[in-house]
Amino acid sequence: MSAVSDPSRTVLLLNGPNLNLLGTRDPGQYGTTTLAEVERRVVSLGEELGVRVVCAQSNSEGVMVDRIHAARGWAGVVLNPGAYAHYGIALRDAIDAVEAPVVEVHISNVYAREEFRHTSVTAPVAAGYVAGCGVFGYELALRAVLRRDAERREADGAQAG
Ligand code: DQA
Repeated sequence: MSAVSDPSRTVLLLNGPNLNLLGTRDPGQYGTTTLAEVERRVVSLGEELGVRVVCAQSNSEGVMVDRIHAARGWAGVVLNPGAYAHYGIALRDAIDAVEAPVVEVHISNVYAREEFRHTSVTAPVAAGYVAGCGVFGYELALRAVLRRDAERREADGAQAG
C-alpha cells in the first residue's frame, strides 16, 4: 500500500470475504447496493468530515491482518470481517495489536440469523459494533471511528499535559 499523506486523518475501510459480491449476493440479507457504491458513499462522507478513506477488500484473513497492521497510526478502521468475525482469531489479534480504533460492521442483523453468527471473536476487541442497519451501518461506523479517535487523542493530550 502506498504511503498516505496524513496518517492521522486517514481511515481504512476494510471488507472481508465474499463482500466483493455485494449487490448480487443474497439481496434479502445484504440488499442490492454494490461494494463500489458503499465505498463511494463512505469516501464521500469522509470528505465531508475531513478525512481520507482508503478502501480495501480481501477474501483472505492474512491479507486483512496485513491491512490492519498497515493502518497503525491511522485515525481508525471501519471493518466488516464477514465470516471471519465468527472464528478469525488472527484477525482478532491484529485488531487488538493496533491502537487505532476499529469499528466492526455487519450489514445484516447477525443475531436474527443462524446461531453460529451470534458469536463474534472480533467484537470484544473492537472500539464499537454496528449490525443490522444495512449498508448505512458503514456510515455510522465511520462517524463512530472518528469520535473514538478524537476521544483517544484528547485522552493522550491530557496525559501529556
Ligand atoms: C456479514 C455477516 C456474516 O455472518 C457473514 O458471514 C458475512 C456478512 C454482514 O455484513 O452481515 O459475510 O458480516
